[in-house]
Amino acid sequence: MINIVDGVFVLNTAQTTYIFAIDEFSHLRHLYYGAHISEPIAREMLMIPRDFIAGTSLVYDEKEYPFISLHDLPLEIATSGKGDYRNPSLEILTPREEYLDLKYLKHELDQDITLTNNLPTPHGVDQTLRVYLHDEVAKITVILQYGVFENSNVITRNIVIENHTLSPLQITKAFSFNLDVRNQDFNLITTAGGWANETHLKKQKLTSGIYLHDAKSGTSSNRHNPYYILQEEQGGLNHGYTLGVNLIYSGNHAGVVEMNPSKTIRLQSGINPDGFIYPLTREQQFQTPWAVLTVSEDGLNGVRRNFHDFVENHIISPNFAHKNRPIILNNWEGTYFNFDEKKLGKMIKQASALGCETFVLDDGWFGERNSDASSLGDWDINLKKLPHGLAYLSDLCKKNSLGFGLWVEMEMVNPNSKLYKEKPAWVLGDKSRQLTLGRHQLVLDLTREDVQNFIIEKMTDILSSADITYIKWDWNRPLSDLPPRSSIVFDYYRGFYRVMEILTKRFPHVLFEGCASGGNRFDLGILSYFPQIWSSDCTDAYERQAIQDGLLLAYPPSAVSAHVSANINHQTRRQIPLDTRIRVAMTGAFGYELDPNELTPLEEKIIVNANDFYKLHRSIIVDGDLEQIYCNHGRAYQWLSKDKKHGLIFYFNQLVDLNPQPLLIKTKDLLVGKYQLKAQSNHTMIKEFGGLLKMALPTLIKPDGKIIQHLNDHQSAEQFMKMDQPQIVIVNGDALNHGAVNFYPSWAGTGVGPHMYFYSDFGSRLYVIEYLGE
Ligand code: GLA
Repeated sequence: MINIVDGVFVLNTAQTTYIFAIDEFSHLRHLYYGAHISEPIAREMLMIPRDFIAGTSLVYDEKEYPFISLHDLPLEIATSGKGDYRNPSLEILTPREEYLDLKYLKHELDQDITLTNNLPTPHGVDQTLRVYLHDEVAKITVILQYGVFENSNVITRNIVIENHTLSPLQITKAFSFNLDVRNQDFNLITTAGGWANETHLKKQKLTSGIYLHDAKSGTSSNRHNPYYILQEEQGGLNHGYTLGVNLIYSGNHAGVVEMNPSKTIRLQSGINPDGFIYPLTREQQFQTPWAVLTVSEDGLNGVRRNFHDFVENHIISPNFAHKNRPIILNNWEGTYFNFDEKKLGKMIKQASALGCETFVLDDGWFGERNSDASSLGDWDINLKKLPHGLAYLSDLCKKNSLGFGLWVEMEMVNPNSKLYKEKPAWVLGDKSRQLTLGRHQLVLDLTREDVQNFIIEKMTDILSSADITYIKWDWNRPLSDLPPRSSIVFDYYRGFYRVMEILTKRFPHVLFEGCASGGNRFDLGILSYFPQIWSSDCTDAYERQAIQDGLLLAYPPSAVSAHVSANINHQTRRQIPLDTRIRVAMTGAFGYELDPNELTPLEEKIIVNANDFYKLHRSIIVDGDLEQIYCNHGRAYQWLSKDKKHGLIFYFNQLVDLNPQPLLIKTKDLLVGKYQLKAQSNHTMIKEFGGLLKMALPTLIKPDGKIIQHLNDHQSAEQFMKMDQPQIVIVNGDALNHGAVNFYPSWAGTGVGPHMYFYSDFGSRLYVIEYLGE
């Protein structure tokens, strides 16, 4: 709800309030962003109680207001030239080489905030405010747009620049918002990483100077995801002022967090000004991407909940939001390029027998694609591998009750392809020089409408050629060979979003999964068209916990695609129990990435049970609230249905704890009545005990012999030793919330018994909680 009284703008969501006002200079002065406060808002909040001006500060209007300087005023938009020496949020080069001083002109309320330049807009906004600011000398108008999403506690912001001069202008910086907040001894939480180790969380104390959180590779990047979080130093998982920022854009982004000498904190986010320049001709408009702001006094879990609600309710297409996602079996790590129809047929049958729901054929089905060195662009079926075409495979899937998914990489071309020979002018970059390759490929120039239309029509042909229910849309190299400053990356994404807007309208039932060598383009722009994104090329369940930890702070589990892969892991060569591989993947959009015909009978059984379990409980993962919860060793996550009656606890051990006490886990927000907490069976492979088996076996049986191998392939250690008695407790919800229950400890090198867990490093547990009533 937006209330405007006497030039004070109050933007309320269910739990937050955002306030700014027209000040004595007709600037927009920021007043408050935090937990909901009641109205009427006292005009006194506008007052800056000060009877002096600090040392070398400039005074904006000495005659009328001798004690006010812009150098520390909280502003809704920041330009340079009048004494504000913090980072400006807007810079425009005009032929007269002038600065900008934007003053309030008018405002309007609306119900719609759709941008007209193909950039994605969140749907279902409750209310919109537009405030027009104008510089009469420069003849430039800037519109500050605010979208209020009440139930998600989100405010979206962007700016629109209008050129009312007679000459062209050049925009060199246009952040989507500027927000100046008071210092609260903040920690800054960002993500950092690279290929296969994306989105690792980083926390640092905010100190004087500027922190730049950005990407310049032509994508939102695996280096620094666009979101960032500020939290008061004393804050934690469940308490403390916490402010989250994200951006609905997939190109180069920059987030700026600045503490100036007077300790005001300035936040910005938007298109990365580094490398950017946009020419704006007479009477033309420029619109920035939407930034997303949220705040909570309930710590990281509070901001997480707001972000998740916002993405699920306003970013993901309503065709897929809150809907269960199919269990995928993807052939990539099972076969790489080395497959034929027979092999895939066997995989499809086995995937179905295991209870999977969609089979995805990854890279290698088209052109002469037997390695990553050729054929991108030649989207005709490889008849040597697949003589009966895609329709045959999709029919086979249907007969086996599976959906059929397909990998594509439509924005790219290999120089070794028919397309490149026919259309060399279609690639991005300066073609008068040698173009830079990445994974042996070049990028198609999506700023061109003919290239966009080629992709749309090719994709339409592919999707019409068989019954395809899912597309994995890959993007395997960054952009390059561009001038140091241009609008090319921005225009590339406008072209890309146009392609996706048309394709998702034409094929509304197809589940598009984004991918960019894993998580090199995991952002809200992609999620506006792709309900889920392949999070990383690393499928190692230990590394994945760190990656998914970073993602799940800002994006809901349904968006975070995660698969179980084979032991030994192909990226790290680490060995992790199947239970843990399954549970880590279940905390996202769940699936498998292995050859299902290479499993032991025991592994098959575990997977069948896991799929049944997931089908029974996945609505809690898609629709419930995720919180990281306290445990005294390792990591624990809780999912709770909205009515708080059904829940799941995933616990990950990390490294083995010798001399363990019973594990302490504190659930969150359970009701006061009775709950049943039931552990799921764990499955430890008998061979994991190695030479220890000698203690329990007759001397004739060798630990690495055939008998043990047979046992290992058919029974878990828990079953073999008749210890498969998972913990069940019936107890009041508040007892679980306060950590009064002793969870079984893990095995610690000596002794065995039914009241313990058998795992070593990378073990895990899964508990189901059900409300039994008062
Ligand atoms: C990228 C993806 C992988 C796989 C390969 C295929 O690396 O991230 O999942 O699809 O391409 O070439």
